Amino acid sequence: MPRPHSTLLNRFFRAHLDSDFHAPNLSRPFTMNTSFRHEPVLAAEVVEFLRPRQGSTIIDGTLGGGGHSGLLLGQGARVISFDRDPEALAHARASLAPHGALFTAVEGNFSDAPEALAGLGIGRVDGVLLDLGVSSHQLDTPERGFSFQREGPLDMRMGNSGMTAADLVNTAEASELARIFRIYGDEPRAIQIAARIVRAREKKPFATTLELADLIAAGRKGPRHPATRVFQALRIAVNDEIGSLERALPAFSSLLAPGGRLAVITFHSLEDRIVKQFFRRHSAAEIDNPTWPAPRPNPERIFDTVTARSVTASPSELEANPRSRSARLRVAERRVTDLQGGAA
Ligand SMILES: C[S@@+](CC[C@H](N)C(=O)[O-])C[C@H]1O[C@@H](n2cnc3c(N)ncnc32)[C@H](O)[C@@H]1O
Repeated sequence: MPRPHSTLLNRFFRAHLDSDFHAPNLSRPFTMNTSFRHEPVLAAEVVEFLRPRQGSTIIDGTLGGGGHSGLLLGQGARVISFDRDPEALAHARASLAPHGALFTAVEGNFSDAPEALAGLGIGRVDGVLLDLGVSSHQLDTPERGFSFQREGPLDMRMGNSGMTAADLVNTAEASELARIFRIYGDEPRAIQIAARIVRAREKKPFATTLELADLIAAGRKGPRHPATRVFQALRIAVNDEIGSLERALPAFSSLLAPGGRLAVITFHSLEDRIVKQFFRRHSAAEIDNPTWPAPRPNPERIFDTVTARSVTASPSELEANPRSRSARLRVAERRVTDLQGGAA
């Protein structure tokens, strides 16, 4: 299990509710891109599993382009959506405005949602969706610094505060960089790449995406760009994506009303494993009993399994949206009869 990054990364939480969201304090120029686009993955499956309807309240922890939120709103549900990215919020506030008071957009990390929801007077909810990772808009906007193929500042922050990818590659020790590349990117050359970065930054600190991508790719070829894994790993570290997920799962579990459902879409094996193990730990009927041959009832059981295996994209979705290739959806349902306490 990776060490949390809270000491390394300056995390942030600024939950601006609609009413007090005027001009965010930006350390990066605000680029309101009118071509904001993100095709929601596993859209029909999300609607089927979350069962949105009039009178139900659903949290979308990852608003992005607003695709899933729009579909849930379209079924009559009240939707409260979170994103760390002010560009995503501004876009969705405009595009989902026709849904009026049914839609609320909140700026902040979804792992801090319980506080923000308490501020909105919301206790229990009927469904939660997390569609993890970055949006197509973020990936395709060079100024955001996520792309290893397009020149831009080496930023990679989903929001506007905290440590950038440049801060990380220019200051972290080689062993820390290697650990990030190995754990978050499964990068087989983690140690060599970290050592090359540390040597190169002594001459000139890294400032842009292509400076780093070119160093990693030098002399390498292959079906995938040689910087793919390192860029994924840096993005995960910069945004504390694993820590956010690990904090959010128990927090959202505690917010669900009996019969409410938690649906999580992941895009890489580390995240998927965390979700799978969390659901398994909290849905098993029995656990081993070290002092008795028979198993005993699981005191942490708060869920019933909805998807025994992860749900993946259909052939037609794969053809229409290549980004759905690595998407895995898992869903669990809060049990009716048990403690309504936390799942941590
Ligand atoms: C894959 S996109 C979501 C796309 C969205 N479901 C749609 O249909 O358009 C992920 C979004 O979640 C946001 N995000 C990722 N992790 C987050 C976190 N811990 N807290 C808040 N927002 C987060 C990203 O900024 C990004 O906009």
